[in-house]
Amino acid sequence: MQRPGFRKQFFAWALKKTDSINNRIYSRYKHELFRYLQGTVVEVGPGTGINLSYLSGIREWIGIEPNAAFHSRIHELAMQKGIRARIVNSSAEEIPIVDNSADAVISTLVLCSVADPAKVVLEMKRILKPGGKAIFIEHVAAPRHTVLRAAQNIFNLLNQLIADGCHCNRETWNVIEGAGFAQVSLKNYRVKEMFKFHEPHIVGFAVK
Ligand SMILES: C[S@@+](CC[C@H](N)C(=O)[O-])C[C@H]1O[C@@H](n2cnc3c(N)ncnc32)[C@H](O)[C@@H]1O
Repeated sequence: MQRPGFRKQFFAWALKKTDSINNRIYSRYKHELFRYLQGTVVEVGPGTGINLSYLSGIREWIGIEPNAAFHSRIHELAMQKGIRARIVNSSAEEIPIVDNSADAVISTLVLCSVADPAKVVLEMKRILKPGGKAIFIEHVAAPRHTVLRAAQNIFNLLNQLIADGCHCNRETWNVIEGAGFAQVSLKNYRVKEMFKFHEPHIVGFAVK
C-alpha cells in the first residue's frame, strides 16, 4: 500500500489530538444514536475510529477509510474494544460491499469532506439492508441569506485547504432527503462548542 503524503499524515495526527474534544462535544448524540446498533455496521470515513467507543454488541464493523495514516489507530482501538473490524482502503463514493448487506451505516463529519456527497449517500443506502439505518452527524451550511452563510461561503476555500478538503457550506440535508430513503429523521443543532463556521449541524438517521 502507498504511504500517505505529509498532509494526510498531518491531518491524521491532528485529528487524534482533538479526539477528546470531539468526544466532549458529540458523545450525547452518539450515545443516543448508536446504542441499539447490531449486526454488521459499516462506517464511512471513520478517521481515528473514534466511534468504535460507542459501539457494543455488534457482529462486525467495516470502516471505509481512504487515508491509510488512520488505519493502525483504528486497528488498535478495535482490538481494545474487542470488535471484529475490517478496514477498506477506499473512497465512500464507491464502496466495495455488496447491496443490502449492512444493518447500519454511520457517517460523522464526513459528508463535508467527500468529493461527491450525493454519491456517498446513495452508496450508503445501496449497501443497507431494507429497514437498515444510516446515521448522520454532520456540520452543514447555515440558512441561506444569513450573515453566517455569507461568511461560510467566503471562508470555504481556506477551510478546504486547512481541513483536508472540508467544506463548511454544504446543504447536506438536501442530499440525504433526496436519496430516496423510506424515512428521514434529522434535527438541526447549533453546536456552540465548535468553531463558528462549523456550528450548524444536522443529527439523525434515515431508514432504507
Ligand atoms: C473530519 S474527518 C471525520 C472522522 C470521523 N468520522 C469523526 O467523526 O471524527 C473526515 C474523514 O473522512 C475521510 N474521508 C474523506 N474523503 C473520503 C471519501 N471520499 N470516502 C471516505 N472517507 C473519506 C477522511 O479521511 C477522514 O477520516
